[in-house]
Amino acid sequence: MCGIVGYLGARPATPVLVEGLLRLEYRGYDSAGVAVLRAGKIAVTKTAGRVRDLRDKLTDDPATVGIAHTRWATHGEPSDRNAHPHLDADLRIAVVHNGIIENAEQLRAQLTAEGVEFASETDTEALAHLIARQDAATLEDAVRAALRGVEGTYGLVVLDRARPGELVVARNGSPIVLGIGDGEMFIASDVAALVHHTQQVVFLDDGELATVTAAGFRTSTLEARLTNKTPTTVDLAADDYELGGHTDFMRKEMAEQPEAIARALRGRLDERFATAHLGGLGLDPMALRAVKRVKFLGCGSAYYAGQMGATLVEELARIPADAEPASEFRYRNPVVDPDALYVAVSQSGETLDTLAAVQELRRKGGRVIGAVNVVGSAIARECGSGLFLHAGPEVSVASTKALTNMTVSFAMLALLLGRVRDLSASAGQRIVTGLRALPGHVERVLADDADIARIAKRFAHAEHMFFLGRVRGWPVAREGAQKLKEISYVHAEAYQSAELKHGPLALVDANMPSVVIVPADDLLAKNLATIEQVKARGGPVIAITNAELPSGLADEVIRVPRGEPELDPILLTIPLQLLAYHTASALGRDIDKPRNLAKSVTVE
Ligand code: AGP
Repeated sequence: MCGIVGYLGARPATPVLVEGLLRLEYRGYDSAGVAVLRAGKIAVTKTAGRVRDLRDKLTDDPATVGIAHTRWATHGEPSDRNAHPHLDADLRIAVVHNGIIENAEQLRAQLTAEGVEFASETDTEALAHLIARQDAATLEDAVRAALRGVEGTYGLVVLDRARPGELVVARNGSPIVLGIGDGEMFIASDVAALVHHTQQVVFLDDGELATVTAAGFRTSTLEARLTNKTPTTVDLAADDYELGGHTDFMRKEMAEQPEAIARALRGRLDERFATAHLGGLGLDPMALRAVKRVKFLGCGSAYYAGQMGATLVEELARIPADAEPASEFRYRNPVVDPDALYVAVSQSGETLDTLAAVQELRRKGGRVIGAVNVVGSAIARECGSGLFLHAGPEVSVASTKALTNMTVSFAMLALLLGRVRDLSASAGQRIVTGLRALPGHVERVLADDADIARIAKRFAHAEHMFFLGRVRGWPVAREGAQKLKEISYVHAEAYQSAELKHGPLALVDANMPSVVIVPADDLLAKNLATIEQVKARGGPVIAITNAELPSGLADEVIRVPRGEPELDPILLTIPLQLLAYHTASALGRDIDKPRNLAKSVTVE
């Protein structure tokens, strides 16, 4: 989604801003812009398209203060005039903004009635006019006063021609982080844009503002109470956000999975008691025993990971568990069960629908923990406790290593919940051993890359594909279809295998390949019957399996190593990432930046 960068210091601001925007490109956007303060005037350059198009329009500029933005259109089409920064009528105030102003129509109407002429169709422009119209002693007070009349979400930075030595930032629902340099300050919506300059950062909270100068910063609330924030050190390096010899981030992140899993397991498995230690949960054994139900909430792949988690919890702990899209949960006035443990699942920790579900739960007194990959993110902070995913920064829009670490973390949670109940020590030990074997098993699947690439190429011409699975294989099929759709744009539909005969089987013919998930578990015979049903209608079959299949049954077989059956979904998901990746690459897609999508979905 949208990205923000700001700079104040002694260096020319433009290269710093452009470099920051390039590092935020992965989030998805459709236009970009920069405003710098030069010789007492605000100079704005904007363009629809890529940051490199913006860079081509920029000239060498000595200005040392500036703000920049990548926009993902919400109000008004992607165009030069709708791109940020937006200015007031006197060209005194420039604003970049992430989020959505919900009362924008009302504000625009009110300002128009007062004689303001709008230069764009955006909600953000109303902010620039509002701030400029405040009669306040400081820019911070003007921003504060303007925001009192604003409803919605924002992370914003304001530049004032009359105050060249400062920028004012504010946050409500959209992240803003300050980077502390030596005699210079950086501002961004994502630490990815900062870590090559500094690892000392300050995350703003909702309802907080900051006045930033080259020498430092001062934070306060919307009610003007000082908050005295101190910097924290982020444990991230610039090369976490670099390709390091890989062709794209999705490939890099798939390759990082064995290491990411090992990191998630480190120090958390206990051989002696055949359990897991998850200190971040903040739940003692009595509290764990009191959990009567577990519900996972997330969006997209995080929801499918939650579905895998629910299966694990039911199997290992025998507690009723399910998963629901956070976007549905938040709107349906949910009945909140005081005895349930709710788990908010999110790589970015910023997904607005998931955050809103957490807030709804907290409002109703539900117990919610986070399963989040980004430290300091909104969901992590709102939950306060949970499971840190340890996947490392994920840049590609298509989630791979974060999803894998979600499921690995849920296996540990299920193990822990099981072992404070009736899961036997030997069954617990079996899961501990299975988890320890996972990094090596994933390595072996990744080594099958060339064969999976061949299979992907063979079926890349297909316009539609089925992904079929049952019970443990069902969320795997859903995630496989999701990966294929999002990066290759091939229409893929996931179905529960047994439901096929109730309708969708009518679609099966020689042009409709089916990817069938076939774990070597007690449903093997049923899954083989699914393959027979598809084959009998002339449908090509790609089987993803850790079982021995009758020879010639499937057209293609992708094998994964055999581990503990409960953990099968984790491993069976990996070849589907590669299948989607190689299909997308055979079709010449821009793998890291699929059309219409963004890495973090911070709007409704
Ligand atoms: C995954 O490949 C998708 N791009 C998407 O479904 C993603 O999982 C979803 O938007 C949730 O994101 P989050 O984990 O950052 O909350």
